[in-house]
Amino acid sequence: MPAPTATAYPTAFDAIIIGAGAAGLFCAAQAGQLGLNVLLIDHAEKVAEKIRISGGGRCNFTNRDLDVRAPHKHYVGQNPQFCRSALSRYTPADFIALMDKHGIPYEEKHKGQLFATTSAEDIIRMLLAECADGGVTRWQPCAVKKVVFLPSSADTSSAGSYEVHTDRGVVHAPRLVLATGGLSIPKIGATDFGYRLAQQFKLPLVERRAGLVPLTFDGAAWQPYAQLAGLALPVEISTGSKKERMTFHEDLLFTHRGLSGPAVLQISSYWKDGAPLHINLLPGTDMAALLQAAKTHSRKLVANELAAHLPTRLADAWVSQQPELQRPINEASDKALTKLAEQLQRWEIIPTGSEGYKKAEVTLGGIDTKALSQQTMECKTQPGLYAIGEVVDITGWLGGYNFQWAWASAFACAQAM
Ligand code: FDA
Repeated sequence: MPAPTATAYPTAFDAIIIGAGAAGLFCAAQAGQLGLNVLLIDHAEKVAEKIRISGGGRCNFTNRDLDVRAPHKHYVGQNPQFCRSALSRYTPADFIALMDKHGIPYEEKHKGQLFATTSAEDIIRMLLAECADGGVTRWQPCAVKKVVFLPSSADTSSAGSYEVHTDRGVVHAPRLVLATGGLSIPKIGATDFGYRLAQQFKLPLVERRAGLVPLTFDGAAWQPYAQLAGLALPVEISTGSKKERMTFHEDLLFTHRGLSGPAVLQISSYWKDGAPLHINLLPGTDMAALLQAAKTHSRKLVANELAAHLPTRLADAWVSQQPELQRPINEASDKALTKLAEQLQRWEIIPTGSEGYKKAEVTLGGIDTKALSQQTMECKTQPGLYAIGEVVDITGWLGGYNFQWAWASAFACAQAM
């Protein structure tokens, strides 16, 4: 019989984490520093690509306005209350303290959003340094081929072991953490691995769709607005029935294929196929009264009068669709002016779709929170299996809320393992 050959790497770990993104790196660092022997695996060439491209390259890493007692204000999912426990045990102040410990400068931009002052790379370096402190082993790039759960015999303390088959060999651990993120931006490594593994272990999934995503409109109806690509203005935007209406006050951006900007990204996470968006292009203004007043003393063209309140290109595009408005304002009928004001302040349009995962910042849906413990992130029916970050059915608003969920869920998991 040939002598067994020694493997060049350890094969047994206390915990294996799949996905070295925001949640995976942070969980690995925390668990390692708590004394666990951790293996972190990622199939992508580069570590934490989403952190690198986030916030325009400066990573909006958290939000000071997060109200941990009312997570439903900033998180979407079947049960946003689920994230309350983790968010209250690892708060924005905790991550800020970590940034301070590493001497990384940051600044507040808009509505509590905190960004690295220099570069998102600083945050990646910080997370890698934290992993090094915890003695974490990282295999990257490394593909995971399959995962097998081996239940243990009654006389051992752990419930079983996860056998992870990778292209660097087979490894084992009593704990396996899914930190494989969502489906957005597949070209930098997003896959459905986490959802497939969840199905393998019979965990329920909430239907996935793109969130924080630009919305698109059909060719002909969109034609008058397509020429406005690049134009931005502050608006009030809402969607949903009266009972569950969501409203945001943010900037809207016209694109060649539709609408984007923070206003539309935010509302996209609440928008349902076929539902209209309601947009007030002149929030805080009584446009009907302003137009009627102008009519009494001005001979300017309606488009020029409008341009005092709206970007000129938008005023022109709007009036060019309506022959009865292509005249001096004092010659326009009251009815036409009232209709114009109403259209601008209650613009109702139905998107035909979204730009999808190619452009989405996040994936809505994912592993149903019903399957997980909100204290530990461990699966209720599968001992030793944990899910953290975006793979779970918790999606934050634009503004640093998604990274805060990644840090907080990772922390809860690491503390429990
Ligand atoms: P994340 O996606 O970070 O990591 C998952 C990891 O799993 C990846 O490294 C991937 O390669 C790996 N993986 C996937 N499949 C695998 C497989 N089969 N085998 C091995 N590894 C696998 N949020 C925010 O709060 N502030 C912001 O400024 C931004 N900005 C932003 C910009 C853009 C363009 C995008 C696309 C997203 C954002 N986000 C954001 C959202 C934020 O990036 C996101 O919610 C977090 O990165 C989620 O962290 P996770 O660790 O869960 O997934």
